[in-house]
Amino acid sequence: MLRDGFQMEPDFIPTDTKVSLANRLSEAGISKIEVSSFTSPKAIPTLADADTVFERIRRYPGVTYTALVPNLRGCERALACRVDELNVVVSVSETHNLANLRMRPEESLEQIALISKRAADNAAVNVSVSTAFGCPFEGRITRDQVFSVIDQLAAFGIELVTVCDTTGVANPAQVYDLFDAASRRWPEMSFTAHFHNTRGMGLANVIAALDTGIRYFDGSLGGLGGCPYAPGASGNVCTEDLVHMLQMMGYDTGVDLDLLLGIAHDLPAIVGHDVPGQVMKAGTSDRTYPKPAGL
Ligand code: COA
Ligand code: ZN
Repeated sequence: MLRDGFQMEPDFIPTDTKVSLANRLSEAGISKIEVSSFTSPKAIPTLADADTVFERIRRYPGVTYTALVPNLRGCERALACRVDELNVVVSVSETHNLANLRMRPEESLEQIALISKRAADNAAVNVSVSTAFGCPFEGRITRDQVFSVIDQLAAFGIELVTVCDTTGVANPAQVYDLFDAASRRWPEMSFTAHFHNTRGMGLANVIAALDTGIRYFDGSLGGLGGCPYAPGASGNVCTEDLVHMLQMMGYDTGVDLDLLLGIAHDLPAIVGHDVPGQVMKAGTSDRTYPKPAGL
């Protein structure tokens, strides 16, 4: 949220609503919020108001406000908006990178090198490596292909990397294998796991990544989202379902689940349709009902 969540929405979400959602997510204790994206407004019209949204959100101490950046031009816009962290994207798959960014992965990597120099002391740079577990056009993506991209990022001095299952094809065994090997190979890097729940494997993949020591996860309120340039993509792992699961397992997420569920409840009215989130419909797992009469 808000970027991956809203980028597929057909109707423009009013700027005020985006600002209010970002503020409420900050209040709920979400540690990093991807507020918008500095892409071409023709490509993603629903996020064309990124600059205004950033101007108007309240910045809470301890919260990192980030935005997707596809190129150097986007980097300049993001820096002008005092974004804390740039989330630059590159796909492992050449076809997906061409469809999404109209560049070959090598060109995106060149942009990333320039962006990391340009951002230097002004903003942190995180790189999201897309289609890391499979590509809707090219099919299988090997761990070696992913590692060759991360090798180049490491050479640019990038220390924040998000490994993305863009179309929800990853399974827990694959996730464990990749994050376990990546954490050993680049112990100095901070990895985030980004899963989509397209095939119902999202939370299982979170557990697999958690078992390798990963502690940062992307999610999207209500499980909204998807990539407009990846056929068959659907929503991210749902933030409140993820927080609920981790809290029930005893993890300290730093998030106020009641506040988060309150925001999630408002989401269907905001987007004008039902959303996939399950805990907001079922209630938390410690919910109890009045006993049947006579018991
Ligand atoms: N912000 C705003 N406008 C931008 C821009 C940016 N970061 N980068 C390029 N543009 C504008 C150009 O000014 C140009 O505008 P014009 O047609 O009015 O002259 C237009 O976009 C095309 O510019 P060009 O450099 O030829 O880019 P492109 O057509 O090769 O597109 C991207 C490249 C990256 C800008 C575009 O593909 C894009 O925004 N993709 C969206 C990716 C995305 O968000 N995907 C979902 C998440 S993974
Ligand atoms: Zn995504």
